[in-house]
Amino acid sequence: MRLTMDPREAALALLDGHLAALPTETVYGLGARADQASAIARVYAVKDRPANHPLIVHIAGANALDSWGESVPRYARTLADSLWPGPLSLVVRRSPAAADFVTGGQDSVALRVSAHPIMGEVLAHLMELTGNESVGIAAPSANRFGRVSPTSAWHVMSELAHFLSDDDVVLDGGECGVGLESTIIDCTSSQPRLLRPGAITADDVARLTGLECPAGSTIRASGTLAKHYQPSADVRIVRAAELQDRWSLGSGAEAPVVGLLAMAGINTPSGVVRLASPHSAEEYARVLYAALREADVLGLETVLAVAPEPAGIGAAVIDRLNRAAHSG
Ligand code: TXA
Ligand code: MG
Repeated sequence: MRLTMDPREAALALLDGHLAALPTETVYGLGARADQASAIARVYAVKDRPANHPLIVHIAGANALDSWGESVPRYARTLADSLWPGPLSLVVRRSPAAADFVTGGQDSVALRVSAHPIMGEVLAHLMELTGNESVGIAAPSANRFGRVSPTSAWHVMSELAHFLSDDDVVLDGGECGVGLESTIIDCTSSQPRLLRPGAITADDVARLTGLECPAGSTIRASGTLAKHYQPSADVRIVRAAELQDRWSLGSGAEAPVVGLLAMAGINTPSGVVRLASPHSAEEYARVLYAALREADVLGLETVLAVAPEPAGIGAAVIDRLNRAAHSG
């Protein structure tokens, strides 16, 4: 595996059927050419992901919507035109270009145009190298299945280096600005539906399309499994009011075993390690996954999390905290 900061090197690796971990504004993806079954098979192997969980195809712009999708509803075009590039994935009926090995055998395909300039450069190089303007890079989050998504190249390396081959590339584009996976909207019926909350909210979708955007769908989405985004530490969602009474551990000589994630105004009980003190829901989203990884590096047994307010991206933070906390 090679670590690089050169988007062209990543595009060349992809061209040759190798994998490239790529920065997006949400989280890092593990990319492969979306038209190559063998490369996609390696994505599943490296992630240890069940083969029936579909991947998101990253495209350069809304122009490619009709190459990968079919019968795209007008509201989906409105969303693409107003919110791409951005932290939004649209699930549309697939065209023949979206093979079973990308869609997990479903009749729909998830499409995304990332706003990360380096991702844009990789796609531009790949378009030039292949001569295909609609070229797609299939990229799930670059973590092992069920684990916390990576928000830096270092996270990718520490988790996947062992499973990548010499010709695969990790493209370092710095830390992800959003920090949580893209919002996923199901656009396969007459009404949009929220499959996974993110920086773009169901209210944003409703405002732009004039259609209500309820949560849930019969479509399968692995990010919607109750148990997902899990660190090794046991995550517990607690209220700020119960922190001092229930969780003050005193100052024993032993190594700390409990960590805390909470907004900056909330005090840390004694004996507890502060993992993050965000000042806004946006900052909470940005630092959440790094903080959960830090808990594992420190060998903490328990992470206490005080949730942010549910407005805006706060709802997505709460969604991920709930999944990280699920111990079923
Ligand atoms: O922000 C993101 O979306 C990141 C970056 C790398 O783009 N990607 C990401 O991919 O989170 P992944 O594979 O970890 O999550 C993709 C989600 C899964 O829950 C998958 O089930 C869902 O998208 N998905 C993909 N194709 C779908 C489809 N045709 N129908 C329904 N859900 C789909
Ligand atoms: Mg994922």
